[in-house]
Amino acid sequence: FGRNVVILESTTSTQEEARLLAEQGAAEGTLVISEEQTGGRGRMGRKFHSPRGKGIWMSLILRPEQPLHLTQQLTLLTGVAVCRGIQKATGIQTDIKWPNDLLLSGKKVCGILLESAAEDDRVRYCIAGIGISVNLKEEDFPEELRPIATSLRLAGGQALNRTVLIQHIMYEMEVLYKLYNEQGFQAIASLWEALSGTIQREVKVQSQRGVVTGVAIGLNPSGALLVKVDGDIVPVYSGDVEFHTR
Ligand code: BTN
Repeated sequence: FGRNVVILESTTSTQEEARLLAEQGAAEGTLVISEEQTGGRGRMGRKFHSPRGKGIWMSLILRPEQPLHLTQQLTLLTGVAVCRGIQKATGIQTDIKWPNDLLLSGKKVCGILLESAAEDDRVRYCIAGIGISVNLKEEDFPEELRPIATSLRLAGGQALNRTVLIQHIMYEMEVLYKLYNEQGFQAIASLWEALSGTIQREVKVQSQRGVVTGVAIGLNPSGALLVKVDGDIVPVYSGDVEFHTR
C-alpha cells in the first residue's frame, strides 16, 4: 500500500479525490495525500480541521472481497494500523476509542472515516480516510477544539516527520489487511481489543437506536461494540462513545 501515491497541495477533501480515482479504476493501495483540506470531513457530517502542513490528511483506496455490511471491520482494522504505525514511528502510544478515534490522554489525535461504494451488498471500493494531527501547536486548533483535541507534537514535545509516519502506517495497513484476508476478522478484533481504551469501561453510546449505557466488553464478529446493560449484552453498530464516570 502507498506505492502509488498522489500528493496534492490543497483539496477540499482527499476522500473526494480518492473516490474519483477509484471510479477511474485506480488499484487497491492507491493513496491520496494533501498538505491541506479546505473541506475536511468527519463522521456524521462533521467538519475535520485539516490545516496546511501540520498533519497527515490522506485517503487509501481498498477493494475488499467482503460484503458491504462488514465494512465496519475495516474501520477497526484501520484504527489498529494507525495506532501501531504511530507507536512504531514515534514511540507514542495512543488509545483506540470505538469505533475509530485515536486518543492521547483522553483527547482526540486522529480520526478515521471509512466510506464505501457498493451495488446491493457487493462492495465496489472503500476509501479509508485518515486524519492525524501531527505537528499542530495549541494555537493551530480553533478555540472550540482545544479542550478535546491534541497533536502528536503536543504529546511528544517535538515536531515529527510525516513521511516516516505515513510509511509505517502504510506498512501496518498492508500487514493487517493481509492477515484479515487470510485469517478473518477475529485476528484483527483481538488486536483491537488489546489496544482499545474502550473495553471494560463504563460507556454511554449515542447509537441510531437511542442511548445505550453500560460496560463495553468487546466486539462481535461483525465489529459491533458489545455493551453489557443490566445483564443483557447489546451490540452497537454505529454511534459515538462517551466515557462514563460515576
Ligand atoms: C472523524 O473524526 O469523524 C473522521 C475524520 C476523518 C478525517 C480524514 S482526513 C483525510 C480524509 N479526508 C477527509 O475529508 N476526511 C478524512
